[in-house]
Amino acid sequence: MNRRIFLSPPHMSGKEQAYITEVFESNYIAPLGVFVDRFEESIKTYTGAKHAVATTTGTAAIHLALRVLGVGVGDKVLASTFTFIGSVTPILYQGATPVFVDSNETWQIDPALMEQAIKLHQPKVAIVTHLFGQVAQIDKIAEICKTYGVYLIEDAAESLGATLNEKHTGIFGDMGVYSFNGNKILTTSGGGMLVSENETWIEKARFFATQAREDAFHYEHETYGYNYRMSNVLAAIGVAQMEVIEERVARRREISDFYQKRLSKYDEVTFMPEIKGSRASRWLSALMFDVNEPQKVIEALEAVNIESRPLWKPMHLQPLFKDVAVMENGVSQYCFERGICLPSGSAMSDEDLSHVCDVIESVIG
Ligand SMILES: Cc1ncc(COP(=O)(O)O)c(C=O)c1O
Repeated sequence: MNRRIFLSPPHMSGKEQAYITEVFESNYIAPLGVFVDRFEESIKTYTGAKHAVATTTGTAAIHLALRVLGVGVGDKVLASTFTFIGSVTPILYQGATPVFVDSNETWQIDPALMEQAIKLHQPKVAIVTHLFGQVAQIDKIAEICKTYGVYLIEDAAESLGATLNEKHTGIFGDMGVYSFNGNKILTTSGGGMLVSENETWIEKARFFATQAREDAFHYEHETYGYNYRMSNVLAAIGVAQMEVIEERVARRREISDFYQKRLSKYDEVTFMPEIKGSRASRWLSALMFDVNEPQKVIEALEAVNIESRPLWKPMHLQPLFKDVAVMENGVSQYCFERGICLPSGSAMSDEDLSHVCDVIESVIG
């Protein structure tokens, strides 16, 4: 069978093994070590975040954010419905109640609908996802959250490298989260980062991520925590990956431009928009076809060993959340029923891209 084209596979910079060797030579495989500090520093320098703590996953980082903000039973947490499940499961871990908000023409959470949901449900926190490496209307959203005294957690798991008016996603809110899961623009095989301007919160998150171990001679615990710190080995991979982050963003943008040039001439094709003033990282090139075509396209691609996938199924349509409140306008469902994510790995060649387009054209052309 021909070589598989994956949706978004890891793309190494070439420095990873040298840094891992350094880790092994120092024997700081665990616990922690200098690469964890270096990785946190590199994310801070790149994004402009003031404080950062590296974690085992992005989901863990969101969980820590909710714990630090004191979210618990009886609290409501507003969230983008058009997102990946890891964005919202931490609400359940804390015993709080999610309230989902639908999207607008940007495909991302609708700020006006969000304001209505805040008035109606008075949430303590809002978790806003920047979808597929594009930027949500985060400046407006941050204003709304400020006005109503709602803490804002930016789920920038998919959008490392994306900016609005040259400010990085992840630093508009009270706290921001990045993921370095295997399919992300940058990967440590698995990992995450929580960032904030508020040093106390980040130190608290670091404490919770380290089993809430008190500063004592013996193991002393006044509360419970989690085992959520990133290992030095994985951080070494992250440091090497961060050295090429701008190249990776540039290539993902080229890939998306390539698809748009080839496919936007078809009436039934609509690409996910990029909001004014933003530079999306375009982690995954996302587009919509007419109803019924997504499955045909995905199957045609799969038949020649090319991976693609549907857009995230909105949370309010998930059986798990069938009883959860939602401010709905049908937009995310509309996108879900028509949309797919195309292979977008930064190591893809123009030949690969052309091959993907040929297959899509054979279905829709
Ligand atoms: C929007 C979004 N939020 C949260 C996560 C969770 O990150 P992780 O897989 O690192 O736990 C992901 C991806 O994996 C994601 O795409």
